[in-house]
Amino acid sequence: MSPLQDRNLLLGVTGGIAAYKSAELVRLLRRAGARVRVVMTGAAGRFITPMTLQALSGEPVRQELFDPAHEAAMGHIELARWADRILIAPASADFMARLAAGIADDLLSTICLATGSPVIVAPAMNQGMWRNPATRENAALLQRRGVVLWGPAEGEQACGEQGPGRMLEPADLLRRLERHLAGDGRFAGRHVLLTAGPTREALDPVRYLTNRSSGKMGYALAEAFLAEGAQVTLVSGPVALPPPAGAETIAVESALEMEQAVLDRVNRCDLFVACAAVADYRPRVVAGEKIKKRDETLGLELVRNPDILARVAALPAPPFTVGFAAETSDPVARAEEKRRRKGVDMIAANLVGAAEGGFERDDNALTVLWEGGHRELPLSGKRQLADRLVALIAERYEPGN
Ligand code: PMT
Repeated sequence: MSPLQDRNLLLGVTGGIAAYKSAELVRLLRRAGARVRVVMTGAAGRFITPMTLQALSGEPVRQELFDPAHEAAMGHIELARWADRILIAPASADFMARLAAGIADDLLSTICLATGSPVIVAPAMNQGMWRNPATRENAALLQRRGVVLWGPAEGEQACGEQGPGRMLEPADLLRRLERHLAGDGRFAGRHVLLTAGPTREALDPVRYLTNRSSGKMGYALAEAFLAEGAQVTLVSGPVALPPPAGAETIAVESALEMEQAVLDRVNRCDLFVACAAVADYRPRVVAGEKIKKRDETLGLELVRNPDILARVAALPAPPFTVGFAAETSDPVARAEEKRRRKGVDMIAANLVGAAEGGFERDDNALTVLWEGGHRELPLSGKRQLADRLVALIAERYEPGN
């Protein structure tokens, strides 16, 4: 039996070309046994008719906040209480902005403000609108307040552009809803904070020191945790990857910025996974202007960066901590030494700079170590490897420890 059987689902439809997909979504939700009531914004009515959604849901579709006939049957506050879950699909940039601002000027936004039930948002918009800092900040704010974000996906857009902004497919939304309601993801209800990518340590306005890291391993881990129902916050150094759909992604440059972003959020997380290749040193002085070539040699004085992982593990009430160890030789012994010295629960050792695996490539292999045990995760694609590592972390992770 589907976890949606006999559940009350309020589907909010806002204005966007993806509104046509809500018809299929209603059909799938009904087939899974859910009771579905649809609330449309005014703009949604320009893309799909209420009649279609009414026929498919078998319930009257609501559009108006001040509608005496409907309010007499089920008022907007009753609708807010009726819903076990509110799913807004598609959610336009405008609707997300209104939700973030707490504006209640139509039926759907009023219900979202009044409800005590989880609100899930499936964004759909032009890629430029999704990438705009205003939308990114609204999405991050909503996530911080507990709104669940699913998507958007990358791909070809109705406007002919390419990029992130496509609403997830109805079948994907259905699967996620089922997992969400069943709470069966191994990390459902858990908050995972991850670091990924390199850091850049500025020498002057045009040059920096850095480590080799594409972010692929860390981003794959973020996706694997999301697939297991976790709420994911990803603190990422500069990489050329799109942010994982559904994660709150914080972009940073230097180790000091990464440390601050982690410390600002670590109290709210259950697990901390440090996959970033953090530069161990930074220039003592950052030149205000481009350093000129004068002499044959140039000396640089470097100072140690803080060790973010060790700092988190040393907190009075640390989350479950998982580190990585990138080594060019003897990875297992060196990783074990790091695990003990930094006081982390688990560490994943990988060989870097060799013929296969490590940084920048699509494949990797890990030896994962913990107190009294270890496991080999053989060479495979980073996403598959991330799934295996997340399954192993789930075996070792005990909430409250
Ligand atoms: O990004 P990819 O191209 O996919 O490559 C993946 C990877 C090889 C970068 C990744 O698998 C990996 O090994 N990441 C850790 C790299 C590293 O910096 O390892 P380390 O042995 O120097 O550090 C040990 C641990 O301490 C790591 O968890 C690191 O994130 C953390 N650390 C290190 C230094 C520091 N100042 N702060 C930290 O938190």
